[in-house]
Amino acid sequence: MDADAAIHRRLTADLEKAACAVRSAEDVLVITHIDADGIASGGIASATLSRLGKRYRIVFEKKISEDTVDMINGSAENTVWICDLGSAYLSEFKRPGIVITDHHVPDPKWKGGQTSIDDFDRIHHLNPHEYGMSGSYDVSGAGMTYLLSKTVDPENKDLAYLAVVGAVGDLQDNRESRLIGFNRMILQEAVSTGDLAVDEDIRYFGRDYRPLIQFLQYGNDPPIPGVSDNGPGCNALFSGLGIPLRKGGELRTWRDLTADERRSVSCRLLSLVDDDQKKRLFGEIYTITRYDSCTGLKDVKEFATVLNSCGRYDDAETGLRICMGDMTALEDAERNRSDHRKHISSAISYIKENRLLRERRFVQYFDAGPEIKETVVGIVAGMLLNSGDVNKVLPIFAFAEADDGVKVSARASRALTDRGLDLSFIMKTASEIVGGYGGGHKVAAGATIPTGKEEEFLDIVEDLVSSQII
Ligand code: C5P
Ligand code: C5P
Ligand code: ZN
Repeated sequence: MDADAAIHRRLTADLEKAACAVRSAEDVLVITHIDADGIASGGIASATLSRLGKRYRIVFEKKISEDTVDMINGSAENTVWICDLGSAYLSEFKRPGIVITDHHVPDPKWKGGQTSIDDFDRIHHLNPHEYGMSGSYDVSGAGMTYLLSKTVDPENKDLAYLAVVGAVGDLQDNRESRLIGFNRMILQEAVSTGDLAVDEDIRYFGRDYRPLIQFLQYGNDPPIPGVSDNGPGCNALFSGLGIPLRKGGELRTWRDLTADERRSVSCRLLSLVDDDQKKRLFGEIYTITRYDSCTGLKDVKEFATVLNSCGRYDDAETGLRICMGDMTALEDAERNRSDHRKHISSAISYIKENRLLRERRFVQYFDAGPEIKETVVGIVAGMLLNSGDVNKVLPIFAFAEADDGVKVSARASRALTDRGLDLSFIMKTASEIVGGYGGGHKVAAGATIPTGKEEEFLDIVEDLVSSQII
Protein backbone atom coordinates (compact mmCIF):
# COMPACT_ATOMS: atom_id res chain seq x y z
CA MET A 1 0.00 0.00 0.00
CA ASP A 2 2.81 2.40 0.98
CA ALA A 3 4.67 1.54 -2.19
CA ASP A 4 1.52 2.25 -4.22
CA ALA A 5 1.04 5.59 -2.49
CA ALA A 6 4.68 6.53 -3.15
CA ILE A 7 4.35 5.66 -6.84
CA HIS A 8 1.15 7.64 -7.06
CA ARG A 9 2.83 10.65 -5.44
CA ARG A 10 5.74 10.41 -7.88
CA LEU A 11 3.37 10.22 -10.86
CA THR A 12 1.39 13.22 -9.60
CA ALA A 13 4.60 15.22 -9.12
CA ASP A 14 5.89 14.28 -12.59
CA LEU A 15 2.54 15.20 -14.15
CA GLU A 16 2.67 18.59 -12.39
CA LYS A 17 6.18 19.29 -13.72
CA ALA A 18 5.19 18.30 -17.26
CA ALA A 19 2.01 20.40 -17.00
CA CYS A 20 4.16 23.42 -16.07
CA ALA A 21 6.26 22.79 -19.19
CA VAL A 22 3.10 22.70 -21.35
CA ARG A 23 1.58 25.79 -19.72
CA SER A 24 4.78 27.80 -20.15
CA ALA A 25 5.52 26.64 -23.72
CA GLU A 26 5.82 29.38 -26.34
CA ASP A 27 4.90 27.08 -29.19
CA VAL A 28 4.57 23.33 -29.45
CA LEU A 29 5.31 20.61 -32.00
CA VAL A 30 3.02 17.63 -31.31
CA ILE A 31 4.25 14.32 -32.73
CA THR A 32 1.81 11.43 -32.56
CA HIS A 33 1.22 7.95 -33.90
CA ILE A 34 -1.01 7.18 -36.92
CA ASP A 35 -3.15 4.54 -35.15
CA ALA A 36 -6.39 5.05 -33.22
CA ASP A 37 -4.60 5.52 -29.90
CA GLY A 38 -2.22 8.00 -31.50
CA ILE A 39 -4.97 10.01 -33.20
CA ALA A 40 -7.04 10.07 -29.99
CA SER A 41 -3.86 11.28 -28.20
CA GLY A 42 -3.46 13.95 -30.89
CA GLY A 43 -7.07 15.04 -30.33
CA ILE A 44 -6.48 15.40 -26.58
CA ALA A 45 -3.17 17.27 -27.03
CA SER A 46 -4.69 19.58 -29.70
CA ALA A 47 -7.70 20.45 -27.55
CA THR A 48 -5.45 21.03 -24.53
CA LEU A 49 -3.15 23.38 -26.44
CA SER A 50 -5.84 25.27 -28.30
CA ARG A 51 -7.74 25.83 -25.02
CA LEU A 52 -4.51 27.34 -23.64
CA GLY A 53 -4.29 29.55 -26.73
CA LYS A 54 -0.92 28.05 -27.70
CA ARG A 55 0.56 28.04 -31.17
CA TYR A 56 1.09 24.42 -32.18
CA ARG A 57 1.32 22.08 -35.14
CA ILE A 58 0.71 18.34 -35.22
CA VAL A 59 2.64 15.71 -37.19
CA PHE A 60 1.54 12.06 -37.52
CA GLU A 61 4.19 9.34 -37.75
CA LYS A 62 4.06 5.58 -38.42
CA LYS A 63 7.02 5.12 -36.08
CA ILE A 64 10.03 7.00 -34.77
CA SER A 65 12.59 6.85 -37.60
CA GLU A 66 15.96 8.62 -37.83
CA ASP A 67 14.18 11.39 -39.73
CA THR A 68 11.68 11.80 -36.91
CA VAL A 69 14.48 12.00 -34.35
CA ASP A 70 16.16 14.71 -36.49
CA MET A 71 12.87 16.61 -36.79
CA ILE A 72 12.39 16.50 -33.00
CA ASN A 73 15.98 17.49 -32.19
CA GLY A 74 15.97 20.26 -34.81
CA SER A 75 12.46 21.69 -34.48
CA ALA A 76 12.11 25.44 -34.05
CA GLU A 77 9.31 25.10 -31.48
CA ASN A 78 10.54 25.43 -27.92
CA THR A 79 8.48 22.43 -26.75
CA VAL A 80 7.91 19.04 -28.40
CA TRP A 81 5.07 16.88 -27.05
CA ILE A 82 5.38 13.29 -28.27
CA CYS A 83 2.27 11.13 -27.83
CA ASP A 84 1.90 7.32 -28.08
CA LEU A 85 5.52 7.15 -29.31
CA GLY A 86 8.96 8.18 -28.16
CA SER A 87 9.69 6.12 -25.03
CA ALA A 88 11.72 3.55 -26.95
CA TYR A 89 14.05 6.29 -28.27
CA LEU A 90 14.68 8.38 -25.14
CA SER A 91 18.45 8.35 -25.46
CA GLU A 92 18.22 9.76 -29.02
CA PHE A 93 16.60 13.03 -27.98
CA LYS A 94 19.22 15.74 -27.54
CA ARG A 95 17.26 18.89 -26.85
CA PRO A 96 15.42 20.47 -23.93
CA GLY A 97 11.65 20.91 -23.75
CA ILE A 98 10.48 17.38 -24.55
CA VAL A 99 7.28 15.97 -23.06
CA ILE A 100 6.44 12.32 -23.75
CA THR A 101 3.08 10.69 -22.99
CA ASP A 102 3.55 7.11 -24.19
CA HIS A 103 3.03 3.51 -23.08
CA HIS A 104 5.57 1.56 -25.19
CA VAL A 105 8.42 -0.27 -23.47
CA PRO A 106 11.02 2.44 -22.66
CA ASP A 107 14.56 2.62 -24.04
CA PRO A 108 16.73 0.48 -21.71
CA LYS A 109 19.77 2.68 -22.51
CA TRP A 110 18.18 5.74 -20.97
CA LYS A 111 18.91 6.76 -17.38
CA GLY A 112 21.99 4.49 -17.35
CA GLY A 113 23.49 6.94 -19.84
CA GLN A 114 22.54 10.15 -18.02
CA THR A 115 25.51 12.26 -17.03
CA SER A 116 24.03 15.22 -15.20
CA ILE A 117 20.91 16.07 -13.28
CA ASP A 118 19.94 18.40 -16.16
CA ASP A 119 19.55 15.38 -18.42
CA PHE A 120 16.73 14.09 -16.25
CA ASP A 121 14.86 17.39 -16.62
CA ARG A 122 15.34 17.57 -20.37
CA ILE A 123 12.59 15.03 -20.91
CA HIS A 124 9.33 14.81 -19.03
CA HIS A 125 8.74 11.10 -19.49
CA LEU A 126 5.23 9.95 -18.58
CA ASN A 127 4.93 6.22 -19.20
CA PRO A 128 3.13 3.52 -17.14
CA HIS A 129 6.28 1.33 -17.08
CA GLU A 130 7.95 4.02 -14.95
CA TYR A 131 5.21 3.70 -12.35
CA GLY A 132 4.86 -0.08 -12.06
CA MET A 133 1.91 -0.31 -14.43
CA SER A 134 1.31 -2.25 -17.62
CA GLY A 135 1.48 -0.40 -20.93
CA SER A 136 -0.61 -3.15 -22.52
CA TYR A 137 -3.65 -3.17 -20.24
CA ASP A 138 -3.54 -0.45 -17.56
CA VAL A 139 -3.24 2.66 -19.71
CA SER A 140 -2.62 3.65 -23.35
CA GLY A 141 -0.84 6.55 -25.03
CA ALA A 142 -4.12 8.50 -25.10
CA GLY A 143 -4.60 7.68 -21.40
CA MET A 144 -1.20 9.15 -20.46
CA THR A 145 -1.88 12.16 -22.71
CA TYR A 146 -5.23 12.64 -20.97
CA LEU A 147 -3.67 12.43 -17.47
CA LEU A 148 -1.35 15.27 -18.47
CA SER A 149 -4.16 17.24 -20.10
CA LYS A 150 -6.25 16.98 -16.94
CA THR A 151 -3.29 18.12 -14.85
CA VAL A 152 -2.85 21.13 -17.14
CA ASP A 153 -6.50 22.01 -16.54
CA PRO A 154 -9.09 19.92 -14.64
CA GLU A 155 -11.73 21.28 -17.06
CA ASN A 156 -10.20 18.95 -19.67
CA LYS A 157 -12.09 16.08 -18.04
CA ASP A 158 -14.45 16.26 -21.03
CA LEU A 159 -11.63 14.67 -23.08
CA ALA A 160 -11.67 11.45 -20.99
CA TYR A 161 -13.82 9.66 -23.57
CA LEU A 162 -11.04 10.10 -26.17
CA ALA A 163 -8.62 8.36 -23.81
CA VAL A 164 -11.09 5.46 -23.63
CA VAL A 165 -11.23 5.40 -27.45
CA GLY A 166 -7.41 5.16 -27.52
CA ALA A 167 -7.28 2.32 -24.99
CA VAL A 168 -9.97 0.34 -26.82
CA GLY A 169 -8.24 1.08 -30.16
CA ASP A 170 -5.11 -0.57 -28.75
CA LEU A 171 -7.25 -3.55 -27.60
CA GLN A 172 -6.46 -2.87 -23.94
CA ASP A 173 -9.92 -4.18 -23.00
CA ASN A 174 -9.25 -7.53 -24.70
CA ARG A 175 -7.75 -9.38 -21.77
CA GLU A 176 -10.72 -9.02 -19.39
CA SER A 177 -13.41 -7.89 -21.87
CA ARG A 178 -13.44 -4.70 -19.82
CA LEU A 179 -11.04 -1.87 -19.09
CA ILE A 180 -8.91 -2.22 -15.97
CA GLY A 181 -6.27 -0.23 -14.06
CA PHE A 182 -5.93 3.48 -14.87
CA ASN A 183 -8.15 2.94 -17.90
CA ARG A 184 -11.00 2.13 -15.52
CA MET A 185 -10.52 5.35 -13.58
CA ILE A 186 -10.50 7.31 -16.85
CA LEU A 187 -13.62 5.43 -17.99
CA GLN A 188 -15.39 6.43 -14.78
CA GLU A 189 -14.47 10.07 -15.41
CA ALA A 190 -15.94 9.87 -18.93
CA VAL A 191 -19.11 8.37 -17.45
CA SER A 192 -19.27 11.09 -14.80
CA THR A 193 -19.15 13.82 -17.47
CA GLY A 194 -22.01 12.08 -19.30
CA ASP A 195 -19.86 11.39 -22.39
CA LEU A 196 -19.86 7.59 -22.10
CA ALA A 197 -22.27 4.84 -21.05
CA VAL A 198 -21.14 1.36 -19.99
CA ASP A 199 -23.19 -1.79 -20.66
CA GLU A 200 -22.68 -5.53 -20.66
CA ASP A 201 -23.43 -7.05 -24.03
CA ILE A 202 -22.24 -9.16 -26.95
CA ARG A 203 -18.98 -7.57 -28.10
CA TYR A 204 -19.47 -7.86 -31.86
CA PHE A 205 -19.18 -5.03 -34.38
CA GLY A 206 -22.15 -3.33 -36.01
CA ARG A 207 -24.76 -3.21 -33.21
CA ASP A 208 -26.00 0.11 -34.58
CA TYR A 209 -26.18 -0.53 -38.30
CA ARG A 210 -25.97 -4.23 -39.20
CA PRO A 211 -29.26 -6.09 -39.68
CA LEU A 212 -29.60 -8.80 -37.01
CA ILE A 213 -28.54 -11.71 -39.22
CA GLN A 214 -25.36 -9.94 -40.37
CA PHE A 215 -24.58 -8.82 -36.83
CA LEU A 216 -24.18 -12.46 -35.78
CA GLN A 217 -23.07 -13.91 -39.10
CA TYR A 218 -20.09 -11.54 -39.54
CA GLY A 219 -19.12 -11.38 -35.88
CA ASN A 220 -16.47 -14.03 -35.79
CA ASP A 221 -14.24 -12.93 -32.91
CA PRO A 222 -14.83 -15.29 -31.21
CA PRO A 223 -16.41 -17.62 -33.76
CA ILE A 224 -19.65 -19.38 -32.73
CA PRO A 225 -20.33 -22.85 -34.18
CA GLY A 226 -23.43 -22.85 -36.38
CA VAL A 227 -23.70 -19.04 -36.25
CA SER A 228 -20.51 -17.37 -37.59
CA ASP A 229 -20.49 -17.29 -41.40
CA ASN A 230 -23.82 -19.13 -41.29
CA GLY A 231 -26.81 -17.01 -42.39
CA PRO A 232 -29.38 -19.84 -42.23
CA GLY A 233 -28.09 -20.79 -38.74
CA CYS A 234 -28.59 -17.18 -37.55
CA ASN A 235 -32.07 -17.09 -39.09
CA ALA A 236 -33.03 -20.30 -37.30
CA LEU A 237 -31.70 -18.94 -34.01
CA PHE A 238 -33.84 -15.78 -34.14
CA SER A 239 -36.98 -17.58 -35.35
CA GLY A 240 -36.47 -20.32 -32.69
CA LEU A 241 -36.55 -17.60 -30.03
CA GLY A 242 -39.56 -15.88 -31.65
CA ILE A 243 -37.63 -12.67 -32.37
CA PRO A 244 -38.79 -10.79 -35.49
CA LEU A 245 -36.07 -9.58 -37.85
CA ARG A 246 -38.11 -6.58 -38.97
CA LYS A 247 -40.25 -3.92 -37.43
CA GLY A 248 -42.71 -2.05 -39.65
CA GLY A 249 -40.92 -3.38 -42.73
CA GLU A 250 -37.50 -2.09 -41.54
CA LEU A 251 -34.68 -4.51 -40.72
CA ARG A 252 -33.91 -4.35 -36.99
CA THR A 253 -30.40 -3.90 -35.61
CA TRP A 254 -29.03 -5.35 -32.37
CA ARG A 255 -29.58 -2.03 -30.62
CA ASP A 256 -33.25 -2.07 -31.73
CA LEU A 257 -33.91 -5.25 -29.72
CA THR A 258 -35.58 -5.01 -26.34
CA ALA A 259 -33.44 -5.83 -23.30
CA ASP A 260 -35.32 -9.14 -22.92
CA GLU A 261 -34.75 -10.08 -26.56
CA ARG A 262 -31.04 -9.26 -26.30
CA ARG A 263 -30.79 -11.32 -23.12
CA SER A 264 -32.41 -14.39 -24.62
CA VAL A 265 -30.20 -14.31 -27.75
CA SER A 266 -27.10 -13.71 -25.60
CA CYS A 267 -27.91 -16.71 -23.36
CA ARG A 268 -28.36 -18.90 -26.42
CA LEU A 269 -25.05 -17.73 -27.96
CA LEU A 270 -23.16 -18.19 -24.69
CA SER A 271 -24.42 -21.77 -24.45
CA LEU A 272 -22.69 -22.51 -27.77
CA VAL A 273 -19.10 -21.55 -26.83
CA ASP A 274 -16.51 -22.69 -24.28
CA ASP A 275 -15.60 -20.73 -21.14
CA ASP A 276 -12.66 -18.94 -22.71
CA GLN A 277 -14.75 -17.82 -25.69
CA LYS A 278 -17.63 -16.79 -23.39
CA LYS A 279 -15.36 -14.18 -21.86
CA ARG A 280 -14.40 -12.82 -25.28
CA LEU A 281 -17.97 -12.85 -26.57
CA PHE A 282 -19.71 -11.11 -23.70
CA GLY A 283 -18.39 -8.21 -21.67
CA GLU A 284 -18.41 -4.46 -21.41
CA ILE A 285 -19.27 -2.22 -24.30
CA TYR A 286 -18.81 1.54 -24.26
CA THR A 287 -21.18 3.97 -25.96
CA ILE A 288 -20.48 7.61 -26.76
CA THR A 289 -23.69 9.31 -25.75
CA ARG A 290 -23.44 12.39 -28.00
CA TYR A 291 -23.45 10.48 -31.32
CA ASP A 292 -26.42 9.09 -33.26
CA SER A 293 -26.37 5.52 -34.52
CA CYS A 294 -26.07 6.77 -38.11
CA THR A 295 -22.67 8.37 -37.50
CA GLY A 296 -20.96 5.01 -36.96
CA LEU A 297 -19.18 6.66 -34.02
CA LYS A 298 -21.51 5.65 -31.20
CA ASP A 299 -19.73 2.46 -30.17
CA VAL A 300 -16.22 3.20 -28.84
CA LYS A 301 -14.76 0.20 -30.69
CA GLU A 302 -16.26 1.45 -33.95
CA PHE A 303 -15.05 5.00 -33.28
CA ALA A 304 -11.54 3.56 -32.83
CA THR A 305 -11.90 1.59 -36.08
CA VAL A 306 -12.82 4.80 -37.90
CA LEU A 307 -9.64 6.42 -36.56
CA ASN A 308 -7.57 3.40 -37.60
CA SER A 309 -9.10 3.45 -41.07
CA CYS A 310 -8.00 7.05 -41.44
CA GLY A 311 -4.52 6.93 -39.92
CA ARG A 312 -3.34 3.65 -41.38
CA TYR A 313 -4.20 4.92 -44.89
CA ASP A 314 -2.33 8.23 -44.72
CA ASP A 315 -5.36 10.30 -43.69
CA ALA A 316 -4.87 10.77 -39.94
CA GLU A 317 -6.04 14.38 -40.32
CA THR A 318 -9.61 13.21 -40.99
CA GLY A 319 -9.41 11.10 -37.82
CA LEU A 320 -8.20 14.13 -35.89
CA ARG A 321 -11.11 16.23 -37.19
CA ILE A 322 -13.48 13.50 -35.98
CA CYS A 323 -11.86 13.61 -32.53
CA MET A 324 -12.33 17.38 -32.48
CA GLY A 325 -16.06 16.86 -33.15
CA ASP A 326 -15.96 18.12 -36.77
CA MET A 327 -18.89 16.30 -38.35
CA THR A 328 -18.01 17.58 -41.82
CA ALA A 329 -15.23 14.94 -41.71
CA LEU A 330 -17.79 12.11 -41.51
CA GLU A 331 -18.07 11.57 -45.25
CA ASP A 332 -14.29 11.17 -45.68
CA ALA A 333 -14.19 8.95 -42.60
CA GLU A 334 -16.95 6.75 -44.02
CA ARG A 335 -15.02 6.33 -47.28
CA ASN A 336 -11.87 5.43 -45.32
CA ARG A 337 -13.79 2.92 -43.21
CA SER A 338 -15.24 1.22 -46.26
CA ASP A 339 -11.76 1.02 -47.90
CA HIS A 340 -10.31 -0.39 -44.64
CA ARG A 341 -12.99 -3.09 -44.49
CA LYS A 342 -12.33 -4.11 -48.09
CA HIS A 343 -8.55 -4.14 -47.60
CA ILE A 344 -8.77 -6.26 -44.44
CA SER A 345 -11.18 -8.78 -45.92
CA SER A 346 -9.19 -9.17 -49.16
CA ALA A 347 -5.95 -9.43 -47.13
CA ILE A 348 -7.35 -12.29 -45.03
CA SER A 349 -8.68 -14.08 -48.12
CA TYR A 350 -5.30 -13.62 -49.83
CA ILE A 351 -3.44 -15.30 -46.96
CA LYS A 352 -5.95 -18.13 -46.65
CA GLU A 353 -6.50 -18.84 -50.35
CA ASN A 354 -2.78 -18.87 -51.13
CA ARG A 355 -2.03 -20.91 -47.99
CA LEU A 356 0.69 -18.44 -47.06
CA LEU A 357 0.70 -19.22 -43.34
CA ARG A 358 3.67 -21.47 -42.52
CA GLU A 359 4.47 -23.17 -39.24
CA ARG A 360 7.87 -23.70 -37.68
CA ARG A 361 8.33 -25.47 -34.36
CA PHE A 362 7.91 -22.35 -32.17
CA VAL A 363 6.44 -19.73 -34.50
CA GLN A 364 4.06 -19.29 -37.42
CA TYR A 365 4.47 -16.64 -40.09
CA PHE A 366 3.35 -15.34 -43.46
CA ASP A 367 4.92 -13.04 -46.00
CA ALA A 368 2.37 -10.77 -47.70
CA GLY A 369 4.96 -9.01 -49.88
CA PRO A 370 3.33 -5.95 -51.46
CA GLU A 371 -0.25 -7.31 -51.07
CA ILE A 372 -0.96 -5.90 -47.59
CA LYS A 373 -0.12 -2.40 -46.43
CA GLU A 374 2.63 -2.35 -43.83
CA THR A 375 0.42 -0.26 -41.54
CA VAL A 376 -2.34 -2.89 -41.62
CA VAL A 377 -0.42 -6.19 -41.64
CA GLY A 378 -0.40 -6.27 -37.81
CA ILE A 379 -4.19 -5.94 -37.66
CA VAL A 380 -4.49 -8.80 -40.18
CA ALA A 381 -2.08 -10.97 -38.13
CA GLY A 382 -4.11 -10.30 -34.97
CA MET A 383 -7.40 -11.10 -36.70
CA LEU A 384 -6.03 -14.37 -38.10
CA LEU A 385 -4.80 -15.36 -34.65
CA ASN A 386 -8.26 -14.77 -33.19
CA SER A 387 -10.16 -16.30 -36.10
CA GLY A 388 -10.14 -19.85 -34.77
CA ASP A 389 -8.58 -21.06 -38.06
CA VAL A 390 -4.96 -20.82 -36.94
CA ASN A 391 -2.87 -22.36 -34.18
CA LYS A 392 -3.23 -20.11 -31.10
CA VAL A 393 -0.39 -21.88 -29.33
CA LEU A 394 2.20 -20.24 -31.61
CA PRO A 395 2.93 -16.52 -31.91
CA ILE A 396 2.35 -15.12 -35.39
CA PHE A 397 4.89 -13.04 -37.37
CA ALA A 398 3.74 -11.22 -40.50
CA PHE A 399 6.00 -9.66 -43.15
CA ALA A 400 5.03 -6.93 -45.62
CA GLU A 401 6.99 -4.77 -48.04
CA ALA A 402 7.75 -1.23 -46.83
CA ASP A 403 9.54 1.76 -48.35
CA ASP A 404 12.50 1.32 -46.02
CA GLY A 405 12.78 -2.50 -45.97
CA VAL A 406 10.47 -5.18 -44.65
CA LYS A 407 7.88 -4.47 -41.97
CA VAL A 408 7.29 -7.25 -39.46
CA SER A 409 4.32 -7.39 -37.11
CA ALA A 410 4.07 -9.89 -34.29
CA ARG A 411 1.04 -10.92 -32.21
CA ALA A 412 0.55 -13.57 -29.52
CA SER A 413 -2.26 -14.96 -27.41
CA ARG A 414 -2.54 -13.94 -23.79
CA ALA A 415 -1.80 -17.52 -22.74
CA LEU A 416 1.66 -17.22 -24.31
CA THR A 417 2.53 -13.90 -22.67
CA ASP A 418 1.37 -15.40 -19.36
CA ARG A 419 3.96 -18.15 -19.96
CA GLY A 420 6.75 -15.58 -20.35
CA LEU A 421 6.64 -14.54 -24.01
CA ASP A 422 7.70 -10.91 -24.54
CA LEU A 423 7.29 -9.86 -28.17
CA SER A 424 8.64 -6.36 -27.51
CA PHE A 425 11.99 -7.78 -26.37
CA ILE A 426 12.03 -10.35 -29.18
CA MET A 427 11.29 -7.84 -31.95
CA LYS A 428 13.79 -5.32 -30.62
CA THR A 429 16.56 -7.89 -30.12
CA ALA A 430 16.09 -9.90 -33.32
CA SER A 431 15.64 -6.81 -35.54
CA GLU A 432 18.76 -5.11 -34.15
CA ILE A 433 20.85 -8.25 -34.80
CA VAL A 434 19.88 -8.20 -38.50
CA GLY A 435 20.38 -4.43 -38.82
CA GLY A 436 16.82 -3.20 -38.21
CA TYR A 437 14.88 -1.77 -35.26
CA GLY A 438 11.66 -2.53 -33.44
CA GLY A 439 9.73 -2.64 -30.19
CA GLY A 440 6.20 -2.41 -28.81
CA HIS A 441 4.44 -4.48 -26.16
CA LYS A 442 4.69 -8.06 -24.85
CA VAL A 443 1.52 -9.07 -26.68
CA ALA A 444 1.95 -7.03 -29.89
CA ALA A 445 5.14 -5.63 -31.38
CA GLY A 446 6.63 -4.54 -34.69
CA ALA A 447 9.93 -3.99 -36.47
CA THR A 448 11.50 -2.95 -39.74
CA ILE A 449 14.35 -5.11 -41.05
CA PRO A 450 16.51 -4.97 -44.20
CA THR A 451 15.07 -6.78 -47.24
CA GLY A 452 16.49 -10.31 -47.60
CA LYS A 453 17.00 -10.81 -43.86
CA GLU A 454 13.63 -12.49 -43.23
CA GLU A 455 14.94 -16.06 -42.78
CA GLU A 456 17.82 -15.03 -40.52
CA PHE A 457 15.39 -12.91 -38.51
CA LEU A 458 12.99 -15.84 -38.11
CA ASP A 459 15.84 -18.13 -36.94
CA ILE A 460 16.74 -15.64 -34.21
CA VAL A 461 13.10 -15.09 -33.29
CA GLU A 462 12.57 -18.81 -32.96
CA ASP A 463 15.54 -19.18 -30.60
CA LEU A 464 14.26 -16.30 -28.48
CA VAL A 465 10.67 -17.60 -28.37
CA SER A 466 11.79 -21.07 -27.33
CA SER A 467 14.01 -19.64 -24.58
CA GLN A 468 11.21 -17.45 -23.15
CA ILE A 469 8.27 -19.82 -23.02
CA ILE A 470 8.14 -22.13 -20.02
O1 C5P B 1 1.42 1.51 -31.02
P1 C5P B 1 0.42 1.06 -30.08
O2 C5P B 1 0.87 0.75 -28.72
O3 C5P B 1 -0.58 2.17 -30.01
O4 C5P B 1 -0.37 -0.17 -30.64
C1 C5P B 1 -0.71 -1.31 -29.89
C2 C5P B 1 -1.03 -2.39 -30.88
O5 C5P B 1 -1.13 -3.63 -30.20
C3 C5P B 1 -2.37 -2.19 -31.60
O6 C5P B 1 -2.15 -2.38 -32.96
C4 C5P B 1 -3.24 -3.30 -31.05
O7 C5P B 1 -4.13 -3.76 -32.04
C5 C5P B 1 -2.23 -4.36 -30.68
N1 C5P B 1 -2.71 -5.28 -29.61
C6 C5P B 1 -3.07 -6.58 -29.93
N2 C5P B 1 -3.52 -7.45 -28.96
C7 C5P B 1 -3.63 -7.04 -27.68
C8 C5P B 1 -3.24 -5.74 -27.33
C9 C5P B 1 -2.79 -4.85 -28.34
O8 C5P B 1 -2.99 -6.94 -31.10
N3 C5P B 1 -4.09 -7.89 -26.77
O1 C5P C 1 2.76 -2.02 -36.54
P1 C5P C 1 2.15 -2.97 -35.58
O2 C5P C 1 0.67 -2.85 -35.48
O3 C5P C 1 2.58 -4.39 -35.74
O4 C5P C 1 2.73 -2.51 -34.17
C1 C5P C 1 2.53 -3.25 -32.98
C2 C5P C 1 3.13 -2.47 -31.83
O5 C5P C 1 4.56 -2.38 -32.00
C3 C5P C 1 2.63 -1.04 -31.77
O6 C5P C 1 2.53 -0.70 -30.42
C4 C5P C 1 3.72 -0.26 -32.44
O7 C5P C 1 3.79 1.07 -31.99
C5 C5P C 1 4.97 -1.03 -32.01
N1 C5P C 1 6.11 -0.88 -32.96
C6 C5P C 1 7.33 -0.39 -32.51
N2 C5P C 1 8.39 -0.24 -33.37
C7 C5P C 1 8.28 -0.57 -34.68
C8 C5P C 1 7.04 -1.06 -35.17
C9 C5P C 1 5.96 -1.21 -34.29
O8 C5P C 1 7.45 -0.09 -31.31
N3 C5P C 1 9.33 -0.41 -35.48
ZN1 ZN D 1 -0.79 3.11 -28.23
